[in-house]
Amino acid sequence: MKRIVVGISGASGMLYAARFLRAVPADYQVRLIVSPVAEKILKTEIGWQVKKQSFGEFWAQFSSEPFNGCQIELHPAENHFAPVASGSFLTQGMVIIPCSAKTLSAVANGYTANLLERTADVHLKERRPLLLVLRETPYHLTHIENMKKATMAGATVLPASPGFYHHPQKIEDLVDFIVARTFDHLNIDHQLTPRWGEKHA
Ligand SMILES: Cc1cc2nc3c(=O)[nH]c(=O)nc-3n(C[C@H](O)[C@H](O)[C@H](O)COP(=O)(O)O)c2cc1C
Repeated sequence: MKRIVVGISGASGMLYAARFLRAVPADYQVRLIVSPVAEKILKTEIGWQVKKQSFGEFWAQFSSEPFNGCQIELHPAENHFAPVASGSFLTQGMVIIPCSAKTLSAVANGYTANLLERTADVHLKERRPLLLVLRETPYHLTHIENMKKATMAGATVLPASPGFYHHPQKIEDLVDFIVARTFDHLNIDHQLTPRWGEKHA
């Protein structure tokens, strides 16, 4: 079953979310949840007006690179009745990209105030992959303790901290490095960046 949940929370780094959605293969179904703060940061950082434009429409204006064309269904963050709020609704996993320190805290402490947080909690209780692309710097001890708690509950903390060994030439190369790692953890095939040991372009 090719269905994933993508959560976008109110951290900087909305290009990570956009390039993730662009690259999801066409035979995948994405259930998308955007927090209220994320909605505003999406608009200020990359110009996407989530409630006015579909992702396909936004991407066509934003970039000349192709959108792979996955099916995206948006669930309002305040709708606790959405299918993804239940463990009986099957998915292959969930990524929160980018993940704020506040949403990390909610995940780590089982505090499910909105649909995004509830769905993350469902992925933990159902023992399904949950990736947190955390974006904050520097960290204080509570952030570090929350990372530990989330990890012990079954999440994977995958910080938005790209490597440079693939010789990035532009911002998109750095962003795709992180998107590629999230795809690997969700078992989604991709050719976003060369793997170590493969020839670099
Ligand atoms: C422009 C902007 C950028 C932000 N960047 C970050 C960030 O990178 N990391 C973070 O943890 N919080 C960041 N915040 C703060 C969060 O948005 C805030 O803690 C919010 O409550 C997160 O809620 P959410 O996780 O439910 O979206 C930012 C806020 C704004 C307005």
